[in-house]
Amino acid sequence: MPLQNTSDSYGAFTKLFHWIIVILFAWQYLSGNIMTEMQRGDVVASLTQNDYYNWHKSIGLVALAIAAFRLLNRYIGRLPGWAPTLSGGEKKVIHRLEQVLYLAMFVMPISGFIYVMAGGFGVLMFGEFRLPDPIGRSETLAFIGKWVHIVSGWVLAAAVAGHLFIVLRHQLFMKDGLLLRMLPARRK
Ligand code: HEM
Ligand code: HEM
Repeated sequence: MPLQNTSDSYGAFTKLFHWIIVILFAWQYLSGNIMTEMQRGDVVASLTQNDYYNWHKSIGLVALAIAAFRLLNRYIGRLPGWAPTLSGGEKKVIHRLEQVLYLAMFVMPISGFIYVMAGGFGVLMFGEFRLPDPIGRSETLAFIGKWVHIVSGWVLAAAVAGHLFIVLRHQLFMKDGLLLRMLPARRK
């Protein structure tokens, strides 16, 4: 499998970044919902609320770094041609959805970071070292960061649902192997 995309297939970097982000975002949704439902003193799967917050913030920032590499990889490389079974309308929807997905990969972690820094909560990376605060306390900024984080979480969830709907409709009902384009060791 080539490292970079070719004219007819995604390369190893695109596939690797895609699936790492899927796993990290699944954790972000799980931990985000668990930690906001927990009460102080609760323990879920051996982790305290504090642990969930630390891991949510730390892994969210790791996801931001991966998203930056992923975007760079997309810009320096080329994109494979469209799958031949996509209709013109689907191509337009996919194009818009991918823009939303990329935007969310940055807006989600940056808004979360602004919220916790401006709110004075800070980030204790993996429970080990405290990140410097480049923002400073601001109630207004914390409020905006929090709501952008929550609202874009819903927008991202809707975009992922649309993305999955198209992929699964093609894979399961049209049986054209669209999913295989993003799996290892396949040329198309
Ligand atoms: C990278 C992608 C990220 C995703 C997909 C994500 C997703 C979520 C979700 C789904 C929630 C639950 C929202 C709710 O209350 O309904 C949440 C909450 C939260 N996230 Fe993130 N998050 C990400 C990154 C970050 C980062 C980098 C930080 C901070 C450095 C952060 C800080 C927070 C905080 C503090 C909350 C609790 C907000 C509240 O009190 O309601 N998140 N996140
Ligand atoms: C289980 C969930 C997912 C599945 C099964 C899936 C599947 C796929 C497939 C098969 C493609 C290739 C489509 C084509 O033929 O061009 C693709 C592309 C893409 N997916 Fe997903 N996806 C999932 C979740 C996500 C998530 C959570 C994100 C972003 C947050 C995402 C972002 C993208 C993007 C941006 C592309 C375009 C290629 C690129 O620039 O990386 N996907 N996905």
